[in-house]
Amino acid sequence: MTDEALLSVSELRTWYELRKWGFFHAGYVKAVDGVSFDLARREAVTIVGESGSGKSTLAKTLLGLVPPTSGEMTIAGTKLDGEKKGKGLAWVRANVGFVQQDPYGALPPFMSVQRILGEPLEIHGVPKTDQEQRIREVLEEVRLIPYGDFIHKYPHMLSGGQQQRLVIARALVLEPKLIVADEPVSMLDASVRVEVLQLLRRIQEQHDLGVIYITHDLSTVRYFSEFAFVMYAAKLVEKAEVKELIHNPLHPYSQALLTAISDPDAANAHIIKEVPGGEPPSLVRPPSGCRFHPRCKHFMEGVCDVDEPPAFQPVAGHEVECWLYREGEVPVDEESA
Ligand SMILES: Nc1ncnc2c1ncn2[C@@H]1O[C@H](COP(=O)(O)OP(=O)(O)OP(=O)(O)O)[C@@H](O)[C@H]1O
Ligand SMILES: [Mg+2]
Repeated sequence: MTDEALLSVSELRTWYELRKWGFFHAGYVKAVDGVSFDLARREAVTIVGESGSGKSTLAKTLLGLVPPTSGEMTIAGTKLDGEKKGKGLAWVRANVGFVQQDPYGALPPFMSVQRILGEPLEIHGVPKTDQEQRIREVLEEVRLIPYGDFIHKYPHMLSGGQQQRLVIARALVLEPKLIVADEPVSMLDASVRVEVLQLLRRIQEQHDLGVIYITHDLSTVRYFSEFAFVMYAAKLVEKAEVKELIHNPLHPYSQALLTAISDPDAANAHIIKEVPGGEPPSLVRPPSGCRFHPRCKHFMEGVCDVDEPPAFQPVAGHEVECWLYREGEVPVDEESA
């Protein structure tokens, strides 16, 4: 991990235990299963993947809302693991902001804007005299202006876009180092989606924040981040710069996602159609070898269904977990070992 690293995640696994029936143990939903990545300060990354691929579980693990089963997470030099829950959790609350998918569900209905933003400040011991100033700053930052018009309102009095701005304000109020935004615009009207993403992007740049933007909508990736990771069945199967990923997707799953968008440059191409070739795999008993092999048109029998592919780097800075790239390539793990 370099000095510039804000977040370093190594071999993270988050498994949910299935209900036990007497002595019968049904196993685990392996929702995050061996995820590693680094995020530098001031960097934004998009994690894109279909429903059920483990995106929200990854977000919740980073936020300390779900304990990891194994692996390591280091945020701004502070190592977080399951054992350090108490102290680590308070630190995460203060340093990692969360923007949820459903703004109305995320906001307490009987609290005014002032209380919603004041409560975290109160909990973290910010003096009363400074609280009002901070609330004003943060409301102005998310463009809920003039702030006096909003401060005494309740969530139901705000539009969907305004509610999501308030959720962003709450995520920012303690001046975090990292924001995790899990599908922050998927429940908003199409007309305000880009606006909210641009607001998040502007705040990220102005405050040198790290942002993890999670979405199932590949077409919004371009609005937001420098890097994109593709998540499939609990793993990050491809990591690249956004432009590189869009113009040169290497993993057959990413290729299927991109061809499913009729024209990735068209302004209205915001709906990903189903990836052809069957259902998403079970996370309780994932397919052997590469998890995408039952749906992959490049499937190589005896290779793809045997061992899990390591990360190959056929293009500098572009990693892909797929056996198609094995010839003459050095797996990334072995290269850095
Ligand atoms: N609390 C839980 N207990 C057991 N299984 C869970 C729990 N939460 C999620 N899962 C399962 O873990 C898997 C990953 O779910 P997750 O919500 O992380 O996916 P996602 O990529 O965020 O999906 P979506 O796009 O629908 O939000 C799914 O199979 C889901 O059913
Ligand atoms: Mg989710």
